[in-house]
Amino acid sequence: MAALLGRKILVGISGGIAAYKTAYLIRQLRGEGAQVRVVMTQAAEQFITPMTLQALSGQPVRQSLFDPAHEAAMGHIELARWADLILVAPASADYMARMAAGMADDLLATICLATEVPIALAPAMNQGMWRNSATCQNARTLLARGVRLWGPSEGDQACGESGPGRMLEPEQLMQLVRQVFSTGAAAGLKVLLTAGPTREPIDPVRFISNRSSGKMGFALAMAFSAQGADVTLITGPVTLETPAGVRRLDVETALEMEAAVMSEVEGCDIFVGCAAVADYRPAHAVGQKIKKTAQTRDIELVRNPDILAAVAARAKPPFTVGFAAETERPVEYAQEKRKAKGVDMIAANLVAAAEGGFERDENSLIVLWEGGRKDLPMTDKPHLAQLLVTQVLINYEKKHSAEDT
Ligand code: PMT
Repeated sequence: MAALLGRKILVGISGGIAAYKTAYLIRQLRGEGAQVRVVMTQAAEQFITPMTLQALSGQPVRQSLFDPAHEAAMGHIELARWADLILVAPASADYMARMAAGMADDLLATICLATEVPIALAPAMNQGMWRNSATCQNARTLLARGVRLWGPSEGDQACGESGPGRMLEPEQLMQLVRQVFSTGAAAGLKVLLTAGPTREPIDPVRFISNRSSGKMGFALAMAFSAQGADVTLITGPVTLETPAGVRRLDVETALEMEAAVMSEVEGCDIFVGCAAVADYRPAHAVGQKIKKTAQTRDIELVRNPDILAAVAARAKPPFTVGFAAETERPVEYAQEKRKAKGVDMIAANLVAAAEGGFERDENSLIVLWEGGRKDLPMTDKPHLAQLLVTQVLINYEKKHSAEDT
């Protein structure tokens, strides 16, 4: 909460139906002690009134570049320098295009061009507009300039369609704003996580997989991100939304997951293997759908590489955390895995119990390390993830301070 006290946040609003959510965001920003000034584009006035925003921000709302009274009070260059952060929410496709082109054709665009403080955009538009190659190119241009893109998320849209283009919810944006100003326990750390199942193809329509939903791994990504870490999440096929502020890479097979991990692991501080990686894959994925001619059929399986063990065996490994999914004797089997794979910590969970484990919203963990153990209670996965992240950060710090002395 204290992260926002006294922070100066300039909220830009461009034309989009999601502007109504920004009213709530402004209220929350002020509720946590931030000073807020609002700049609207002309199109934004079609969706929300300056009077509403003035009442919520407690400051006159700026709309025009050529307003002598406002310019005399605080000119646009002063406004660009006043802010600690500029957040444009919603950022329409048109606004992103103008910003990518370096235009200064209205007050908000001019401020964004003149400022030296961080700029974040919360895109909101029709899914077709977001997917259009022109918007994709503009997004890449803005990212390359250091502009932060927060969202969009996927789902039902005001236009009646469904897909990517929804503005993040005010609470998700609040979390990202807090992160900009927070020096969380994981600030400055690069964290790489795996989540979800892998799918091992038998033929073009069939595969071997498991029950992992990704909920545990995604909750961990969110918890690390909330602590200020720079998080990359490599996930198998799941139906979950990417946590705000987390970089996500989608893969399907264990071999793809291994390749993605190995290309991302260099320079990372903490690696967490939460994915349920298939131990075996069919030796030969058949090119055409297998016909049901035979009464029985054998599928030859070959071992997949062990991603977790390979990360731990690197010359300069990150602090490495594994999971152990067990149906019996969790402590004994997890300890064996911890030693065999050479990891710093392992989190054991029972996956055949009445509660917890795969797919469910709740879980419990027994966390083990050399000479230590912590039992984390049955609770919802986001809460459990926070508890685990706290323990991981404690052990990470201990290992590093021991190495430094
Ligand atoms: O996704 P959810 O539905 O929320 O469920 C969460 C979960 C039960 C999947 C999760 O809590 C969990 O236990 N994940 C690990 C599942 C697993 O594959 O466990 P394992 O005991 O088979 O593997 C041990 C460790 O080695 C794991 O860290 C695993 O990621 C890793 N591994 C396994 C095989 C392999 N080829 N490569 C690996 O890296």
